[in-house]
Amino acid sequence: METIKTAVIGATGYTGLQLVELLDRHPEAEIAGVSSESAAGTSLRDQHPLAPDLTLIPAAEVPFREIDVVFLCLPHTQSAPVAGQALAAGCKVVDLSADLRLRTAESFEAWYHTAHPAPGLLPVPYGLPEVVGREPLMGADCIANPGCYATSILLALAPLARSGLILEGTPLIADCKSGVTGAGRKAKASLLFGEVHGNFYPYSIGRAHRHIGEVEQELAALGLAEGHLIFSPHLLPTDRGILSTIYVQVADQDGGMTALEEAYREELLVDVLPRGEIASLAHVVRTPRAVLSLTAAADSTLIIVSVLDNLMKGAASQAVQNFNLMVGLPETTGLIPATHLVQVP
Ligand SMILES: NC(=O)c1ccc[n+]([C@@H]2O[C@H](COP(=O)([O-])OP(=O)(O)OC[C@H]3O[C@@H](n4cnc5c(N)ncnc54)[C@H](OP(=O)(O)O)[C@@H]3O)[C@@H](O)[C@H]2O)c1
Repeated sequence: METIKTAVIGATGYTGLQLVELLDRHPEAEIAGVSSESAAGTSLRDQHPLAPDLTLIPAAEVPFREIDVVFLCLPHTQSAPVAGQALAAGCKVVDLSADLRLRTAESFEAWYHTAHPAPGLLPVPYGLPEVVGREPLMGADCIANPGCYATSILLALAPLARSGLILEGTPLIADCKSGVTGAGRKAKASLLFGEVHGNFYPYSIGRAHRHIGEVEQELAALGLAEGHLIFSPHLLPTDRGILSTIYVQVADQDGGMTALEEAYREELLVDVLPRGEIASLAHVVRTPRAVLSLTAAADSTLIIVSVLDNLMKGAASQAVQNFNLMVGLPETTGLIPATHLVQVP
């Protein structure tokens, strides 16, 4: 089989660099183009000493007609127009930005407070296979890679939404913490070491964060009413990882835990820990998997701790999963062997 020619647009950012690392060791993929605007003409290795020695070119010069699959690692609103150009040239597209995650331009505008840059591309399949199934993703021309926080919350709540066990009208509380790479590589004073080290702070708490839109969209598709998610993200003074502690009211705590265990029993990249154990960032950092732990608390409350690496299952390794489904490869091709993973007994 010939290798599949890929290009990474926005290769100098955190998700782009992580994706290049994964594609570089993917047995069926070849990296045929890497783009940057600010560093065009230089080597990607100048951005990171372990990156391959590939010359960066502006996105407009990437020869899309010679590429099979393009990964877009660009800021939101910058990404969809490039997706349109790549699709028109016959490439398949995995978009890591938020541009294509919401099904309608109105919904995008409501959460991102700006007009959608390419509404004609919508809707696009939402690339979280453990939640939406493989069918919409297999062979797709374009996939919207989910948000990192959204992935951690959806993996915890989707099986409960599907089971119908969540008590109607009760709040779904997601108390989430992310490492600093979640904010991207662009310099910002609030992300300087001196600001972050020894500090810990929430931001966009309540109903303000943009990922609520995609989480509620996907939960609504499973029958859960919108408007009850309370999502409070925090900036954790570490480089990678998301830890979401999620509190949900269920009609049957044991039934809820069983629904989660059953949902992921056969999954290679999502694990539910044995009851009594608690998930931590050490379970997932630099791996392509997500891990959940389950605790029954007072009354009807179930506490789910959901962890993942924001640059892996929250971005680049999820993009490789979607790429594999898109081109008809086994879903974990190029990701770590399944034998490294913890399975529920
Ligand atoms: N970081 C995460 O954990 C994470 C997780 C999931 C999804 N995402 C999403 O993935 C996307 C990339 O995130 P990131 O964290 O990798 O961001 P980043 O570190 O800030 O990198 C952004 C990349 O986009 C390029 N770029 C910036 N403005 C551009 C423009 N106007 N035209 C073309 N290229 C441009 C930058 O290249 P030059 O400046 O060199 O031109 C850089 O390579 C974002 O939409 C983000 O929301 C991020």
